[in-house]
Amino acid sequence: MARIAVIPGDGVGKEVMREAVKVLRALEAAGGPALELVEWPHGADRYLETGQSITDAEFADLEQNYGAILLGALGDPRVPGNEHARQILLGMRFRLDLFINFRPVTLYHERLTPLKGKTERDVNFVIFRENTEGVYVGMGGTFKQGTPDEVAIQEDVNTRKGVERVIRAAFEYAKANGLERVTMSDKANAMESAGGLWRRVFKAVAAEYPGIETEALYVDMLAMDLVRRPERYRVIVAGNLFGDILSDLGAGIAGGLGLTASGNIHPGRVSMFEPVHGSAPDIAGQDKANPFAAVLTSALMLRHLGHAEAGDRLENAVRACILAGETTGDVGGTLGTRAAGDAIVARIQAAG
Ligand code: NAD
Ligand code: IPM
Ligand code: MN
Repeated sequence: MARIAVIPGDGVGKEVMREAVKVLRALEAAGGPALELVEWPHGADRYLETGQSITDAEFADLEQNYGAILLGALGDPRVPGNEHARQILLGMRFRLDLFINFRPVTLYHERLTPLKGKTERDVNFVIFRENTEGVYVGMGGTFKQGTPDEVAIQEDVNTRKGVERVIRAAFEYAKANGLERVTMSDKANAMESAGGLWRRVFKAVAAEYPGIETEALYVDMLAMDLVRRPERYRVIVAGNLFGDILSDLGAGIAGGLGLTASGNIHPGRVSMFEPVHGSAPDIAGQDKANPFAAVLTSALMLRHLGHAEAGDRLENAVRACILAGETTGDVGGTLGTRAAGDAIVARIQAAG
């Protein structure tokens, strides 16, 4: 039985993870995979009480004793520097070497996109976001802080190994799923060193996949075109920061952050699954948060653990609820977080 570390975290993370766990239990009761769900208390409350975010021993425990990690969200206004979230969230990505941030953008119903005339077929792509380097590594610092001469440096780290492995993962995904094109996005016109490396590696890896069309686009142009012609895109691969921004743009054209899931993956190793959204302090504790992103995230986790059919059952339940209008307010319904979770459970039970 796979052991899963469930980290509800902060804000709406706690509310949506409660629903995801309820749904996973219902799925198990309806013949789905048995999972050992172990709740971890990590987040702002514990950090503020004890000063501890996550320890080396806990990272080792995750690596050695767990099949996957399911995370709600991290971030709390009481920790304005966001250090606990960086230590836990970026800590897992870096220390567990989860080099693929896999972020599917799927429109479940055309009424959910703000794009005029676009349908489910038009908004359907995946983002492979590099997840272990870029400007996220925290290299740099400040000098003469608080003076008129202040300097802030935030380095952008790109290694051949890091760039190559995520690009290769994107091509492998395209190949495995019969997708015709892989789009690489950078800012090589302004950031020549990093962009140059990305473009050279992209070209070299692409040569190994002769059946797949390729293109390298500047990220500003891609952001524009995703709004104008999302149907052109199937697989997008980008560095850490550009992938982050593009994935919220993707959420925006596919019904919002309440519906967008992600997997932080190192194939063959313990991997971490989380909604794309954050802790949403503006709606936390009000039974308003949409739990569907967390349920779709659980579906990604199940597929990663080899339970493809169980993953499909969860995704189908979410789709059925969306089509029936059984949703929270962010996607046009009237249900609260708990009731939306119950609606998914009912769909699972009805489907048998
Ligand atoms: P956010 O995703 O928390 O919220 C952005 C907007 O989307 C808000 O209006 C919010 O109400 C709405 N929203 C988010 N999730 C929703 C849901 N499930 N249902 C309905 N509406 C939802 O982004 P933010 O406001 O920029 O960040 C808030 C905090 O979360 C910050 O501390 C940030 O660092 C953190 N954060 C954490 C993660 C993570 O843990 N993976 C991701 C993003 C942001
Ligand atoms: C995400 C979030 C994080 C990121 C923040 C909270 C550091 O926005 O998971 O997309 O930028 O990676
Ligand atoms: Mn983000």
